[in-house]
Amino acid sequence: MVTPKHSSNGTRPGASATGIYAHIVGWGMAVPDKVLSNEDLAAIVETTDEWIMSRTGIKERRIASERETTATLGLRAAQKALDVADIFPAELDLIVCATSTPEYIFPSTASLIQSWLGASHAGAFDLSAACSGFVYGVNMAAQAIRSGSIQTALVLGAETMTRVMDWTDRATCILFGDGAGAVVLQASEIEGGVLSAVLRSDGGGCDLLGIPSVGSVDTQSAPLHSLEHKLGKMHMAGGEVFKFATRVISESIPQALEMAGVPMEDVKLIIPHQANARILQSAARALKIDDTLFMSNIERYGNTSAASIPIALCEAVEQGRVQPHDHIAFVGFGGGLTWAAMVVEWGVPEQAERPTRFTRQRRQLGYTVADWRMRMLRTSRHLNETVQRVRPKRGKMDRLRRKVERHPFD
Ligand code: UT7
Repeated sequence: MVTPKHSSNGTRPGASATGIYAHIVGWGMAVPDKVLSNEDLAAIVETTDEWIMSRTGIKERRIASERETTATLGLRAAQKALDVADIFPAELDLIVCATSTPEYIFPSTASLIQSWLGASHAGAFDLSAACSGFVYGVNMAAQAIRSGSIQTALVLGAETMTRVMDWTDRATCILFGDGAGAVVLQASEIEGGVLSAVLRSDGGGCDLLGIPSVGSVDTQSAPLHSLEHKLGKMHMAGGEVFKFATRVISESIPQALEMAGVPMEDVKLIIPHQANARILQSAARALKIDDTLFMSNIERYGNTSAASIPIALCEAVEQGRVQPHDHIAFVGFGGGLTWAAMVVEWGVPEQAERPTRFTRQRRQLGYTVADWRMRMLRTSRHLNETVQRVRPKRGKMDRLRRKVERHPFD
C-alpha cells in the first residue's frame, strides 16, 4: 500500500501553496470522416490485414481530407471541449497545442486555433514532445493554474500524421492516423484534478524516431540521420521503440502513482498513448495488471501521436469508464525520446453538465464573429498593400516636380 505523500506545507498531492487544484472540466475530440482500412493499405504497400492486425491491433485509421489540417481538427475538438466545460473562449488564459505535424513551424497551430475561437485573452504556443506531448501540455497548464498565474487553459493534442508518412515504408505507414483531442483545465478549490506527473526525456535515442525538418537540410551528412531518411517524412526503428515503450510505461506509471500517493489497486483506468496493442500487453505483464485496465481504441484510429490520449479519454468518458473521483493515469511515449505519466483524480461533476442551448449558441456566434474579424483583417491588409502598390512613389513625384520646376517649358 502506497501512503499519500504530502508536500512540505502539508497540502495534498496536486495542490500548491495556493491551495488551488487544476481540474479537467471539458473534453472533446475530432477525427476525419475518411477511413483508411488495412485492405486499402494492402493496395499501396506489400502488407496484409492479417499482418497488421496480429502485429499491431490496428484495423483502420482516419485520414484527413484535402481541406482538413491539424488546426482544423484541433479547432473542432476544442469547440467540443468548451461546450462540455460550458465556458466561453474569452475565458481562456492559455492554449497549448501538442503536435508534431503543425501547418507551419510558426505561426503555431495553437495561435491559429486561438484566433478561430476568438480566445482574445489567451497566450498560445505549440509543444513539441511527439507522442508524449499531450501529457507534457496538461502538466504545464496544471502547473500554471496551481501557481495562481492563470485560471483556465485549453490543451490539445492534434495531428495529421498521414501527411508525414513515407508511403513506401510498410513498417511505419500502416501504424499512423489523423485526429485531435482537447481538454479544458480550470482552477478550483475542490481537491483533486491533476495530482502528479513524471516527465522524462532521453535525447540519446533521437535517431530512433523522427521527422527531419527545415533545420535538417544537412540531413545527408548529419550523424543523427541515415541516408535513407527523407525530409518531412517520418522514420522509425520499430523494434527499438517497442522495447523502449514497454520499459518506460512500466517504470513511469508506478513513479507517478507514488508521487500522487495512489496505489495501483485504486486506479480505475490507464489511458496510454495508442501505439501498438502488443506494447500494452507487454507493459501489463511487466506491471502485473490485467491488460483491460488499459483503455484501447487503436483498432479504429491507429497511432494518432499526441492526439491519441485525449481521443481515448473522450471515448472512455463516453463509454462511462471514467466516473467522478476515479483515479486515472495517462502515459505517453515517443520521439525525443520522451515519455510522461500522470495521475488525475477525475472530475467535478457539476462542471461537466450539458451546456444550455443558449450558451452553446452564443459560443457559435462568437466563432462566426472571430471568423469575420480574421477575414476583415486580411482583406484590409490586402487592400492596403494594393493601394500602396498603385500609388506613385513619393520620391518619383518629387523628382517629377523638380524636373518641371527646372524646365517649365520643356
Ligand atoms: O508513437 C511512437 C511510438 N511507436 C511505437 O511504439 C511503435 C513501436 N514498434 C512497433 O509497433 C513494431 O515494431 C512494428 C509494428 C513497427 C513492427 O512490428 P515488429 O513485430 O517489430 O516487426 P519487425 O519490424 O520485426 O518485422 C518483422 C517482419 C519483417 O520481415 P522479415 O525481415 O522477418 O522477413 C518485416 O519486413 O515483418 C515484416 N514487415 C511487414 N510485413 C507485412 C514489416 N512491416 C510489415 C507490414 N506487412 N506492414
